Amino acid sequence: MARQDLNGRTAIVTGGGSGLGRATALALAAAGVRVALAARTKSALEAVADDIRAAGGTALVIPTDVGDEDQIANLVSHTHQEWGRIDILVTSAGGASFGPLVESSTADWDSMMNTNLRATYLCAKHTLKVMLAQQSGHILNILSLASQTALPGSAAYTASKFGALGLTKVMAAEVRSQGIKVTAVIPGAVNTPLWDKSGGDLDRTKMLTPGDVADAMLDVIAQPPGIYTDEISLMPPLGIL
Ligand SMILES: NC(=O)c1ccc[n+]([C@@H]2O[C@H](COP(=O)([O-])OP(=O)(O)OC[C@H]3O[C@@H](n4cnc5c(N)ncnc54)[C@H](OP(=O)(O)O)[C@@H]3O)[C@@H](O)[C@H]2O)c1
Repeated sequence: MARQDLNGRTAIVTGGGSGLGRATALALAAAGVRVALAARTKSALEAVADDIRAAGGTALVIPTDVGDEDQIANLVSHTHQEWGRIDILVTSAGGASFGPLVESSTADWDSMMNTNLRATYLCAKHTLKVMLAQQSGHILNILSLASQTALPGSAAYTASKFGALGLTKVMAAEVRSQGIKVTAVIPGAVNTPLWDKSGGDLDRTKMLTPGDVADAMLDVIAQPPGIYTDEISLMPPLGIL
């Protein structure tokens, strides 16, 4: 299979300062893609941008709270103004919360829905306007095994990810005839800072690495235009989550 050369393409990566977003941004940049990094913590984005530039790549830091539609609109318009096109959107901004449903807070529910579901919708909506005008683009929404499987103790997280999978499928069906690919990325557990506050006795060495997931996404992005992968599921070999 002849891979596409990604050199010179442009991407927005939300959650680009940490974990899966950071690894994806670094992998895209290593393939020659210019990357706009978005998250709330500017210093984390600057650190990733420094790594990209030190390796000869191009990065833009655009601090963004994906809970705020105006900030998402700014992220998209700023990137578009800078580079004239947006070829790739990776939505990796997200969070997780764990605990029994009856003990969970409504604020926590709202936070999961805002960051994992509403923000995925808003990022796609604003970016698709650019991609539809181009008649090309690739959106990869980072979901979770929890988008397909009931994980007890994560009601809000699971509900937000089920919703985001439904959203991703509708988006794909709406725009696939217009040159735009939409891929649901469904990883099992990945060893990222997301797990830092989870406590317990998880063996994080048995999880996927962020680089594993980023490499798989790069493979899908670089597939020829005539091949469309609508979903990739990646599990650690020993089956954690
Ligand atoms: N780790 C896993 O096992 C795993 C497995 C499957 C799926 N996922 C999914 O992968 C995605 C990334 O998770 P991760 O493991 O890479 O976690 P992570 O290392 O904690 O990274 C999360 C990123 O999201 C950003 N973020 C959170 N809230 C945001 C907001 N309101 N606005 C903008 N950015 C925001 C964070 O930056 P700021 O806090 O600076 O804003 C950070 O850059 C999530 O959707 C998660 O559900 C993770």
